[in-house]
Amino acid sequence: MSTLYTVHNVLIQCFFMLVTQQPVFRRFWYPVMPRQQLNGGPQAFDLLGEPLVLWLDEADQAAAVRDRCCHRTAKLSLGKVDQGRICCPYHGWEFNGKGDCVKVPQLQPECAIPANYRVDAYRCQERYGYVWVCLEDPLIDIPNIEEADDLNYRLIQEFYEPWQCAGLRVMENELDLAHPTFVHTNTFGSEEHPTPDELEITETDWGIRVFGKLGVVNPELQQKNLKMGEAKTSRTLTMDWLMPFTIKLKITYPNGLEHIVVNTMTPVSDRASQWCSFVCATIPQPIPLQPM
Ligand code: FES
Repeated sequence: MSTLYTVHNVLIQCFFMLVTQQPVFRRFWYPVMPRQQLNGGPQAFDLLGEPLVLWLDEADQAAAVRDRCCHRTAKLSLGKVDQGRICCPYHGWEFNGKGDCVKVPQLQPECAIPANYRVDAYRCQERYGYVWVCLEDPLIDIPNIEEADDLNYRLIQEFYEPWQCAGLRVMENELDLAHPTFVHTNTFGSEEHPTPDELEITETDWGIRVFGKLGVVNPELQQKNLKMGEAKTSRTLTMDWLMPFTIKLKITYPNGLEHIVVNTMTPVSDRASQWCSFVCATIPQPIPLQPM
């Protein structure tokens, strides 16, 4: 376990880091909200303390700009979307997804709109059912979750919750295979397995990979879900920590079923994160019909 504790110590040093004070975090992609949430009109989100407004532009693509109008600083997220433009609720100025002001109702039609009438725009992409935003020149791409594009898996949206918690604390918790015995006793934690049977940690380009095998209990409901009748089973775990705040957890059961959980703790502020998660699960083989 010594290597694991070394990793713990490194992460613990980061727990108290003020994420908004570290410019490097502005150079990663983060999921900020489910794409379908934008169907309800403009939405506000704080990313690393930066107020954003997100909406669907004229191409029906997600757009993100600073949530402060360049005129008198009204919150654009309180406005509306018209023909793919975000319209300020105060004096009606309209902005496109690049942040350019494209309409000033108080100007005569023949007057050109000054080029400095604009708001900061941010990189914005849709992936895995979420809208992802990067505030500055990205160091790496959005994490590639190959199972999400594989027809042998179903992609299922899971939790989207605000947490009063630092992202790295959650990352550390997910890699910690000593806690299921005590915390997850109502679902899979086994008293007989306070430590994993196997554990191997390797460095990757942008994080670490933890491989482990853990004995678990298999209660009745889970027996149905997994189509496994045994009261005890094991999980083979491949956990990728993808810097800075994403964990891809792949669980493989002895019958071959796979369950991939992707959790990102998107940094909202120095004190809060938004938990964004989705799952890719293998599709169980249909049970063959018995002849009548
Ligand atoms: S504050 Fe936005 S148009 Fe005036």
